[in-house]
Amino acid sequence: MYCVRTVTDNLYWVGANDHRLTLFENIHPIPKGVSYNAYLLLDKKSVLFDTVDWSACRQLLENIEHLLNGKPLDYLVINHMEPDHGASIEEILLRYPKVSIISTEKAFLLMHQFGFHVDGHECIQVQEGDTFSFGKHTVTFVAAPMVHWPEAMVTFDTTNGVLFSADAFGSFIALDGKLFADEVNFDRDWIDEARRYLTNIVGKYGPHIQLLLGKAAGILDQIKYICPLHGPVWRKDLGYFIDKYDKWSRYEPEVKGVMIVYASMYGNTEAAAQALAAKLCERGITDVAVYDVSNTHVSYLISESFKYSHIVLASVTYNLGIYPVMKNYLEDMKALNLQNRTFAIIENGSWAVKSGDLMQKFVEEELKNMTVLNERLSIASSLHADKAVELDKLADALAESLAEPEKG
Ligand code: FEO
Repeated sequence: MYCVRTVTDNLYWVGANDHRLTLFENIHPIPKGVSYNAYLLLDKKSVLFDTVDWSACRQLLENIEHLLNGKPLDYLVINHMEPDHGASIEEILLRYPKVSIISTEKAFLLMHQFGFHVDGHECIQVQEGDTFSFGKHTVTFVAAPMVHWPEAMVTFDTTNGVLFSADAFGSFIALDGKLFADEVNFDRDWIDEARRYLTNIVGKYGPHIQLLLGKAAGILDQIKYICPLHGPVWRKDLGYFIDKYDKWSRYEPEVKGVMIVYASMYGNTEAAAQALAAKLCERGITDVAVYDVSNTHVSYLISESFKYSHIVLASVTYNLGIYPVMKNYLEDMKALNLQNRTFAIIENGSWAVKSGDLMQKFVEEELKNMTVLNERLSIASSLHADKAVELDKLADALAESLAEPEKG
């Protein structure tokens, strides 16, 4: 049975939802699922914008068949050929042998690499600024390299103001019937998953997102709809989400607050983290989030690290080093290019307290544009009352730093 939604006149969402996949890219948990969005334009010519993951291909085919109602599919525009969108290309070509494919040079190259056989079909190679008319609708193609792969482009329909934004402005969470961001409480129910998607998938490429946002800024008044490849379509309050993307891609925190991440073997470092959280709240700083690094998937930690201005790393010393899971979190921060944060450190060790110096060295030498507060809480095995002054000093230093004007 088909399952489609109307985006606007003659444009339809023909994608599918996936609640079966547990790990997106086989690494990021998606407990609320994900959608693979594809869009069908019925103009003088029919145009499919992108396909879906192989697991959702059957639904895509039923959706297209229903809307085409016996007519041929004329064009397939591939904005992004990563297999979660491109894996169904070949099946579309088999079903609609006369379809012409429009995409970038790099995308055609990658299609060959992945074994998506497009030979025998008209392959129309486009680049930045090229336009194409499907009847009433004329589109222009805009290069979007590294958002999220080098071949990516976005397509802007100048007739109805629809921006097919590829991975940009996407989000985890299956749509489950709701297509538009204004049909859900996005700021309450979706923003964390949208941030987790963006920061973990494309976080490394902030400057490339900035480049794309710069191009979009020139036509902002003409953009009426943003149609991403995952998550809801935006037709209202576009500025809200564009502003979030701008912040995330400039590595600017959304919230002045403190994220405390602890690595604890027997609960003692955890107790120190909790004691600091309480001290901060006593000082009126209630935007405090505490995470156990061992029990929180690193994708959530990364997302929260992009959200908060201040990060406290609390780690036990393990094999004379940083606790491995904490080290992995730090490495992920580096890989995803997180910048411009203020750190504080809590270290623990029973006979050789090393984790503090090692974490500070990593933050200062491996990450960009980070500040580490001088005050550090150093504990031997467990927190005792003799550390009350040190703990207060750390809480005071964080409070003072939070009160300072924003960096940058
Ligand atoms: Fe959703 Fe970069 O693919």
